[in-house]
Amino acid sequence: MYYHNDFHIEMKKGLINDPNGLAFFEGKYYIFFQYNPENCTHKNKHWGLVTTTDFKNYEYLGLPLKPVDYFDKNGCYSGSARVKDGKLQIFYTANLKKDGIRYPSQVLAEKEGNDFIKKKIIIKDIPKGYTAHFRDPFLFTKNGRSFLILGGQRLNETGCVLCYEEIGGEFTFLGEIKTNLTNFGYMWECPNLITIDGKDILIFCPQGLKKEEYKYRNLYQAGYICGNFDENTLTFSHGDFVELDCGFDFYAPQVLNKEGEHILWGWVGMPEEENTHPTTKYNWVHSLTMPRKFRLESGKIVQKPIVIFDDNGEIKEISLTKDEELLLKSKTKISISIEENENFRLFGKNLEIFFEVLREEKLIKITRTTPFQNTDTRFMPYAGNSTKLDIYIDNSILEIYNESSVATLTYYKENEVDDFYLKVYGDKKIIVHKISAINIKNL
Ligand code: FRU
Repeated sequence: MYYHNDFHIEMKKGLINDPNGLAFFEGKYYIFFQYNPENCTHKNKHWGLVTTTDFKNYEYLGLPLKPVDYFDKNGCYSGSARVKDGKLQIFYTANLKKDGIRYPSQVLAEKEGNDFIKKKIIIKDIPKGYTAHFRDPFLFTKNGRSFLILGGQRLNETGCVLCYEEIGGEFTFLGEIKTNLTNFGYMWECPNLITIDGKDILIFCPQGLKKEEYKYRNLYQAGYICGNFDENTLTFSHGDFVELDCGFDFYAPQVLNKEGEHILWGWVGMPEEENTHPTTKYNWVHSLTMPRKFRLESGKIVQKPIVIFDDNGEIKEISLTKDEELLLKSKTKISISIEENENFRLFGKNLEIFFEVLREEKLIKITRTTPFQNTDTRFMPYAGNSTKLDIYIDNSILEIYNESSVATLTYYKENEVDDFYLKVYGDKKIIVHKISAINIKNL
């Protein structure tokens, strides 16, 4: 009801955004997120929390961080978690504004019993040369040393990542991570630094990139560079910046590292676009993506969703001719192989997601028209000569995967009860698989 999804984490009321504090602790996955529990504005940011052991049964554990202290009265902003000496620690940005001026500080909180206790401000001052856009702490270790990075902005209004080292609980500013991207947007939010197969990956969200024909088409971007990070010189030698998701609604991802297994969650949403989501009428907005396992293949991140299929759900193969339409229900995965120049569409009343193969460019062009969102296009690369698309259909979210990329988008039917169909333009075999709903206890 009210466009709510069946297998994406979301709240009944209010606005959620970035996944935060991802951790595996005492047998459970901890998934915190930015949450305004009252309404659909980007104000009053708390951390909400759900936990799970199996990605099907979740438990909502309320609001472990509330913006009730002087130093975080304007919001408990994003951050990360780690398990240290058997304790679950979370690190977040305390947002304080006085006369419209930001005074961010970085705070450590620890799980004690069922509560999270704000322990201390670990970084108070903004280093010289940088503005108050200074947030989203992420902890990692490399070669036995412990680091904290933050999204930042230079005084010349270009984005960067700032690096601290932790020794004995004290955090010392080392400097900026040196990349080739010295003039790449005006602010970098939500950095993550992880190492897979000996390669370092810096994920971040640059704001202010110029829209290009095939990329950077969202208001803000979320992507990564892959290469080698030298923690002694802070030099990051790397290849191109690659977007992590080429859909319309994806931002601020965070990665959980569980003994070398990496799982990513993103925010299905984009800042400042709440008014394009009809759910706000029902006083809720935004979701998290499905959890996605990822691995590195030839220097590129490849993502695969963790999804629970219906116990009794068989895989059905359906032969569709160009004169037929296939009725699609929520909680369905469809797989469709695309050879050259084969287009298809998902559609309903005043609603169309059109997929077009641009063979020369090796891109799938996705054009979305809904009653609530301006018609626009995004482009999804594919690797081989043809591609197979796996489309995970939830009530108002599609996550589309091929062998090398992902596109996440919201889609809204004019009336929730309207039918939604697939139409192909040649004879085609479609594989259909039923997905189980997730269950969030205490919501
Ligand atoms: C990203 C972001 C973060 C910030 C948080 C506030 O979406 O702007 O930089 O910490 O959201 O909710």
